Amino acid sequence: MVKPPIPISVDHLKFRIEYIENYLHSSEALVAGKEFPPKLFVTKNGEKIVFRQAKREEAKIILQAIKPLIDHKYDKDLYHLVAARTYAEILAWLQHRYKDEYVIIGVHGNELVGVWNARLWDENIAISLHSLTFKRLARIGLAGYLAKIEHAFDILGVKEWWATFESPFGFRMGFYLRHITKPYPEYQHELGGSPVFYITKDVWESLIKPQYKEYLGTRPVPEDLLQESYKLQPPSKYEIEITPTKK
Ligand SMILES: CC(C)(COP(=O)(O)OP(=O)(O)OC[C@H]1O[C@@H](n2cnc3c(N)ncnc32)[C@H](O)[C@@H]1OP(=O)(O)O)[C@@H](O)C(=O)NCCC(=O)NCCS
Repeated sequence: MVKPPIPISVDHLKFRIEYIENYLHSSEALVAGKEFPPKLFVTKNGEKIVFRQAKREEAKIILQAIKPLIDHKYDKDLYHLVAARTYAEILAWLQHRYKDEYVIIGVHGNELVGVWNARLWDENIAISLHSLTFKRLARIGLAGYLAKIEHAFDILGVKEWWATFESPFGFRMGFYLRHITKPYPEYQHELGGSPVFYITKDVWESLIKPQYKEYLGTRPVPEDLLQESYKLQPPSKYEIEITPTKK
């Protein structure tokens, strides 16, 4: 305890919790009111995936979907770790504890097939947080990752996208999408671990968008599919097992 340098009229003051919340509530000034326009991605098997921004009231369904994966039996391919970290980030978003976070979801019918989140450091830099798909082998993970980058550059107007990778499957997406590293350890990603892998607005426009057109989807989403996606439910099954082909 430090004694005040001059007399203070009382020796304690009460604070209203609402005043404290002013300090704890994260700012969302940079993302508020800038909604990702929903789009449709059709997989090679003909599955129609709606990518759209999650509503805060859908957070509990997203958390319910992620929770079963927070278990050592899903350590394979880093699902356990990524699920635990994404769970915490979605909960922090729900409870206003993460600055300028946004959440993109992929929905098949009314079933959640994946979650992709990011946040803005400031108006120039977007920080990629996590990518998690419950339905593999259809490049839904890649299409969702492109959707969250698209939101950052095209709707929110950032100049750089900063990612880092925890899993080989995540790294693979960054490698395909021409991410390069910032000097390490001078630059560090807030998720820790490996270096910052980044792309600029120029790389996004001139290289990634033209090359990955087929994963960028189409707009508008037919109204019936969009409405169905709002009846959001957790996945009925987790299709995340990959069996390697024998050489
Ligand atoms: C990262 C992630 C989102 C990528 O999703 P995705 O783009 O849909 O890709 P998948 O996970 O389905 O992996 C498909 C790849 O597996 C490999 N693969 C699939 N079947 C295979 C087989 N039988 N033998 C060998 N390789 C195989 C191929 O490289 C395939 O890519 P291709 O479709 O381009 O050929 C997803 O793997 C995921 O959610 N992982 C867990 C969380 C995570 O690691 N997130 C990233 C953190 S950095």
